Amino acid sequence: MKGVILAGGMGTRLLPLTKITNKHLLPVYDRPMVYYPIERLVQAGIRDIMIVTGGNSAGDFLRLLGNGKEFGLKRIHYTYQEGSGGIAAALALAEDFVEDDLLTAILGDNMFEEDLGKYIHRFEDQGKGARILLKEVEHPERFGVATVRDGRVGEIAEKPKEPASQLAVTGCYMYDAEVFDIVRTLKPSGRGELEITDVNNAYIRQGKMQHDVLSGWWQDAGSSFEAYARAQRLARELKLQSQG
Ligand code: DAU
Repeated sequence: MKGVILAGGMGTRLLPLTKITNKHLLPVYDRPMVYYPIERLVQAGIRDIMIVTGGNSAGDFLRLLGNGKEFGLKRIHYTYQEGSGGIAAALALAEDFVEDDLLTAILGDNMFEEDLGKYIHRFEDQGKGARILLKEVEHPERFGVATVRDGRVGEIAEKPKEPASQLAVTGCYMYDAEVFDIVRTLKPSGRGELEITDVNNAYIRQGKMQHDVLSGWWQDAGSSFEAYARAQRLARELKLQSQG
């Protein structure tokens, strides 16, 4: 299993904080934002990790993370996304790194309360196709929204005005290597991006998508100042809990 952290994009929703640095390097309580998704991959036993980053501060990722010694890794792989062509475009840059393996991708601004190991191991047992993690939220219209009927996920709507459920699609995605062929078929959306929701819908239409609903909290830390503030509070609670 390969791990990919998607930490490109422009972070415009957190301007001016992101004027001189990458959103994922901003502090969330006692650590930079990108530490949280990296820790979840490492905790799940993933040792081969690639960071996709971009913008003017890409070199700072190397200064911060180096070869990942702090996480017990031997090395970290890096690649650079020109511009912000979307989450699926960022993922496509990991193709040569992933080769024919399975992959777990986590968005660089996503924080999860729980260890994701059990979900990732279920995907390893699944062996092919795709798997997503869903979470009931108060404002689903801010996310990709899924419906589940008879245990199967129906087509996902990206930030719908009238959500069909409370189930948000979180930023942890598990795919087989066919994902790269799927990305090649995508067209840019209304916001000019290759959308990860279109990737997921392709798997759903092929009947190859499985899912789990998270029991712990999930927080997208970088989509607004409110989300960023909530992330600080949750990170602090998580830290205090871990200290007993
Ligand atoms: O957080 C979960 C949500 O993330 C999902 O529910 C949505 O379906 C999905 O589209 C995405 O929504 P956002 O619009 O909030 O994504 P955003 O543009 O904020 O990008 C999230 C992360 O993806 C960002 O922290 C870095 C990475 N990214 C994004 C873009 C646009 C890249 O690496 N490259 C990019 O070009």
